[in-house]
Amino acid sequence: MSRATVAAFPAHRLRRTRKMESLRGLVRENHLAAADLIWPVFIRDGVNETTPVASMPGVERLTVDVLVRRAVEAFAAGVPAICLFPYTSAEDRTLDCAMAWDADNLTNRAIRALKAEVPEMAVMTDVALDPYNINGHDGFVVEGEIVNDETVAALVKMARAQAEAGADIIGPSDMMDGRIGAIRTMLEAEGHINVSIMSYSSKYASAFYGPFRDAVGASAALKGDKKTYQMDPANSEEALRLIERDLSEGADMVMVKPGMPYLDIIRSVRENFGVATFAYQVSGEYAMIQAAAANGWIDGEKAMVESLMCFKRAGCNGILTYFAPAMAKLLSA
Ligand code: PBG
Repeated sequence: MSRATVAAFPAHRLRRTRKMESLRGLVRENHLAAADLIWPVFIRDGVNETTPVASMPGVERLTVDVLVRRAVEAFAAGVPAICLFPYTSAEDRTLDCAMAWDADNLTNRAIRALKAEVPEMAVMTDVALDPYNINGHDGFVVEGEIVNDETVAALVKMARAQAEAGADIIGPSDMMDGRIGAIRTMLEAEGHINVSIMSYSSKYASAFYGPFRDAVGASAALKGDKKTYQMDPANSEEALRLIERDLSEGADMVMVKPGMPYLDIIRSVRENFGVATFAYQVSGEYAMIQAAAANGWIDGEKAMVESLMCFKRAGCNGILTYFAPAMAKLLSA
């Protein structure tokens, strides 16, 4: 049958613009850039050492000197921001969590080192007591309860120490009520008026944080679960209430976490608030892709790109991802 003899033809040939890469590029709706990426890194004590994180192939805990070198490289490859997570040992974890607001704790030393070497790279922190809490919880535990207001007072001290060390973005990930307002008030009162807050506004109680807790040494410490403060995965309207609340308390940017299982939430945050919106592609999402790739079940590089593109489609400004250095490298290749 010659083509000319086919009488009826499709009214809409959407395949026309898929014919060749040049045309596909012209009609492409979303673009990923290194400038969209925030790199979460695990830091550890010591000098010139790295330790692999078993459940996150390709991810290592870095001593501060190595961190600075890697940050210089990542920034040169276009990654604009880095987010710090300290690996702590059992001795660092106490009932009063005092190390969390110590001016010389691992995170604060790392912030100072980064700001001295790569001042133009934005440094983001995590505000939650879990790395320093004997219970592995994000807040103080009193008679089995994670107490809110006492925790907020401690988080303010933690955020103050980070701002004083030079942090550009404070990232409260604890999910206590009222912490954004309390941190914003402190920042204003103490002259840190240009320190941003990226609130982990809609943070779900997720199984996908498993490898992270391993990476920061908290898996063994954590007693119970985080369901009294992190969100129920069954809820979506509540996510919007949290975003609205955090914006009204002074958040500059908001985050949805995890990422891939919560793309519907990202889309509705974008549509309802039009605010700078970020997703955290968390440790379990990273581990799934890396594990399947290591087994030869999927093409790891293609899956990485596709997984990051979904966040742009959903409406994100940017993505916290462990793939940041690899993705930036690929984009500049
Ligand atoms: C700590 C914190 C967690 C993550 C970021 N900050 C773990 C948790 O809430 O238990 C998870 C990040 C990841 O899984 O990559 N408050």
